[in-house]
Amino acid sequence: MSLLEVSNLSVYYGHIHAIKTVSLVVEEGEIVSLIGANGAGKTTTLQTISGIVPSSSGHITFNGMDITAMRAHTIVQKGISQVPEGRRVFKQMSVEDNLKLGAFTKRTLNEKDLQFIYSIFPVLEERKRQDAGTLSGGEQQMLAMGRAMMARPKLLLLDEPSMGLSPLFVKEIFATINKLHEWGTTILLVEQNAKMALEISDRAYVLQTGVVALEGDAKELMNKDEVRKAYLGG
Ligand SMILES: Nc1ncnc2c1ncn2[C@@H]1O[C@H](COP(=O)(O)OP(=O)(O)O)[C@@H](O)[C@H]1O
Ligand SMILES: [Mg+2]
Repeated sequence: MSLLEVSNLSVYYGHIHAIKTVSLVVEEGEIVSLIGANGAGKTTTLQTISGIVPSSSGHITFNGMDITAMRAHTIVQKGISQVPEGRRVFKQMSVEDNLKLGAFTKRTLNEKDLQFIYSIFPVLEERKRQDAGTLSGGEQQMLAMGRAMMARPKLLLLDEPSMGLSPLFVKEIFATINKLHEWGTTILLVEQNAKMALEISDRAYVLQTGVVALEGDAKELMNKDEVRKAYLGG
């Protein structure tokens, strides 16, 4: 049994058939990447796994449970957290209050969870009383990741974590992903930086207009001509 199994997923937005048929699996302990051009359906796939966007057909199982029709907050409780595209931190709230929101599915805030997050992201502790809006883009991404980790997920869904960041922060974000992985978090990563994503991944799926066009071992995909030309700059 895989940790996450998505089979024959199909998703519509009104008349737009965003996901035609997507099947993928994530094994416990893996980093799996989902790459593909703008509009391919990467975000929709993550949003559907998280229960934010409903599917029209197909099944999603997590840890052996059918989560296809579960609500978003229940899915978080089961152990899947998502870091949304564009980070979406609450800019007028303090860094620490943003983190506390990540524990919303628990009845009481566990102070230990906060300390755990600060040990991974020391910069967030340094800035815990600042408004999140005063952080740089890279720091906001770390805050969004820290917030998602507050729920202690088994599976973390990351949507374009490096988007819009300077090269230095891109490196730092990828190093952080590796760190979270070493802590025992399984990761499904959506990235436009396909090269860096494939480098840290075990396996990958290439999405093309709502369909899985290619899949396999990340290193093998990196060497395929069609992947190099379309996603790795030749
Ligand atoms: N809320 C929405 N309403 C209508 N169409 C949408 C919505 N979100 C995404 N789409 C469409 O669904 C398709 C897949 O989008 P998306 O999942 O955001 O792709 P990606 O993340 O790979 O760029 C695109 O054609 C996009 O225009
Ligand atoms: Mg997207």
